[in-house]
Amino acid sequence: MIVAGTGNLAQMTDSDIYAENVSGAATTDRVVSTDGTTWRYLDNNTKPAAGWDSNADFDDSAWSSGKGSFGAKNGKIADLGSGFVPNVLLNQYISGTSNDVPVYYLRTKFDIDDVDVSQVKEITGTVLYDDAAVVTINGKKIAGFDDGSFDENGYGGSNAGAPKTGTVSAASDGIDIGSLNLKAKDNVLAVELHQGRANSSDIYIDLKDLTVSTVLPQKEVRDVSLQIGADETKRNLTWLGESGKASYAQVAVKPSGWKEGDEFPEASAGKYRADQVKSGVSGFYSNKTVLKNLDEFTSYIYRVGNDDGWSETYTFATQDLGKKDSFSFLFAGDPQIGASRNTENDTKGWVNTLDFATEKFPQTSFILSAGDQINDKGDSEESQYQGFFTPDELQSYALALNEGNHDSGSTLYTAHGNIPNVSFLGRVDSSGKSSGDYWYMYNGVLFMNLNSNNRSTSEHRAFMKQALQANPDAQWKIVSFHHSIYSAASHATDDDILERRSELPRIFSDLDIDAVLMGHDHCYTRTYLMDANDPQTSDSNSVTDPKDGQVFYLTANSASGSKYYKYNNDSLTDFIALKDQSNCPTITNVEVTRTSLTFTTYFTDTKEMPVLDSFRITRTDTEQKAEPIKISKEKIRKVKAGKKKISVSYSKLAKGVKYQISYRKAGSSKWKSIKSTRTSKTIRSLKSGSRYKVRVRGYKTVNGKTCYGKWSESRTVKVR
Ligand SMILES: [Fe+2]
Repeated sequence: MIVAGTGNLAQMTDSDIYAENVSGAATTDRVVSTDGTTWRYLDNNTKPAAGWDSNADFDDSAWSSGKGSFGAKNGKIADLGSGFVPNVLLNQYISGTSNDVPVYYLRTKFDIDDVDVSQVKEITGTVLYDDAAVVTINGKKIAGFDDGSFDENGYGGSNAGAPKTGTVSAASDGIDIGSLNLKAKDNVLAVELHQGRANSSDIYIDLKDLTVSTVLPQKEVRDVSLQIGADETKRNLTWLGESGKASYAQVAVKPSGWKEGDEFPEASAGKYRADQVKSGVSGFYSNKTVLKNLDEFTSYIYRVGNDDGWSETYTFATQDLGKKDSFSFLFAGDPQIGASRNTENDTKGWVNTLDFATEKFPQTSFILSAGDQINDKGDSEESQYQGFFTPDELQSYALALNEGNHDSGSTLYTAHGNIPNVSFLGRVDSSGKSSGDYWYMYNGVLFMNLNSNNRSTSEHRAFMKQALQANPDAQWKIVSFHHSIYSAASHATDDDILERRSELPRIFSDLDIDAVLMGHDHCYTRTYLMDANDPQTSDSNSVTDPKDGQVFYLTANSASGSKYYKYNNDSLTDFIALKDQSNCPTITNVEVTRTSLTFTTYFTDTKEMPVLDSFRITRTDTEQKAEPIKISKEKIRKVKAGKKKISVSYSKLAKGVKYQISYRKAGSSKWKSIKSTRTSKTIRSLKSGSRYKVRVRGYKTVNGKTCYGKWSESRTVKVR
């Protein structure tokens, strides 16, 4: 008998059971064990009469008797491999032949003493077997192991080397416990053990334990992931759970002296109900919620689930929230768990990188992933997501996802993500297999994560304009997405990459983006500052006061080491300031202050983390930028009428100022406008013979705000 500890009390759902527990009564009864149970068994290649597996009074007096384990290796007691030595020798061969006995029959009886038989809700146990086994209680099957098909003699099963481990979970596996007709006394437990084939070298069975329980086992919670919130005072949370009932995150300020393993302080915890939908993972629901109003410099503990089962308790800490304008985050390239075809190894590399990086930068604010979290997007590939979420850091530091080509197009991606301010712009699918572009503010910095699987540049541009408009005071603007447009390896000459390269940089320059962080090419590449597609070459590791439109691009290598690409000799290299393919995992630490962005990339194969490269952008004109911008009044230099057109030229204003040219037909009060970055412009498609008025002014957009200079005097001309 096993008495439930007090730790389980909060997990019971049924109030009667709860009461029973408080009084200290048993909830489980272990009814079978290797050492405690004596079996009758038949190993002479005969089939027992009907009722052997269901009738408590069946006459088994002629059968052999013993305690497990049972088996043979080449007819003798010997190790089957990995230390499995049978306690009782089964007769391996059919008498007078060298052929194996195909089927063995074992039976025993058990009583249920410690719990009320009518209250049993689950039967669990462990069976070691070689090569197949069927387990019944009172004649009803509760579990089968490799029992898919047997030949006419009864041979079949896995033909494994060493015995395999099977788990009994009758109710969870859909067995109706009521149909087993459990009694307080003399339940018949029977096992049919099958040999794999006539010339197999071994046979083995050990029913190690069988336990009846009046409570259902805990429902599983997995893939708990803390994710970036809409701003620094929020954290998003997502997890998969077996329970379909209302599920919650419970969050509390970490009590002083609280340590791992201590009970969760439920009474002092805030409770956040999750939005829940069925996930693509069979038997699991996807749960999402948002933790709000977090305080700075505070340690929190949390757990997720409900009374069907809670996760373990996790911790996270907040840093300075916006007051001192300085923080850091980690940027990780394609972990792509499963890419090496060895999920375990890839997971190990990913765990190492995050362990080393957070040991060096324990106060990191979040981890930005370049996308391709996993390798295979099929719904059966949940094991790769389990590998991806294995590092403890992903429960205690917020993760900001990007949607890679390996992620996109699967409900598993959306089930595992909880993304703030997500737009319908940037989606590639509206049926839940893709997220759109999204943004978040962190301590005054605007982050825009684009879904580059969507190749509509106009959608991304529209999204960024919305995000910039919503955050006009952003001190820095950092874009990230998966498909690097400036990289040095295999993907650098892909058609889809060249297409993105021809369109996106102009947009980033126009929108005054400071830095763009990317992945996909599994090779480190840092560019010169780029004005649209023009490299502003310089050999230095830093730049002070980049000019308007100059953007820094960085492509990460893999953070897990699951896959590396070779340099691409067919690719343009004029944009590359530094590239590295050391076939070694890396991570980039980004330090953000009001006046600087520093990108330092480290090798993470050892915890010393040698530096691969560092680049800094410094701004000295922050104060000036905060001042209102003064733009001089524009002056028209020349206006020339042409056939259905007017050409106008005007004075150059200050650096970075663009020009708005407006015109109207004589007699009309409505001005029409066009824009230009140059000091001359031709207005076309005008009406022959009509008179037009033309005027020009300068304008400039800083931190999302547009300031205008005064209009020039207007000039009137007649179009030919
Ligand atoms: Fe990729």
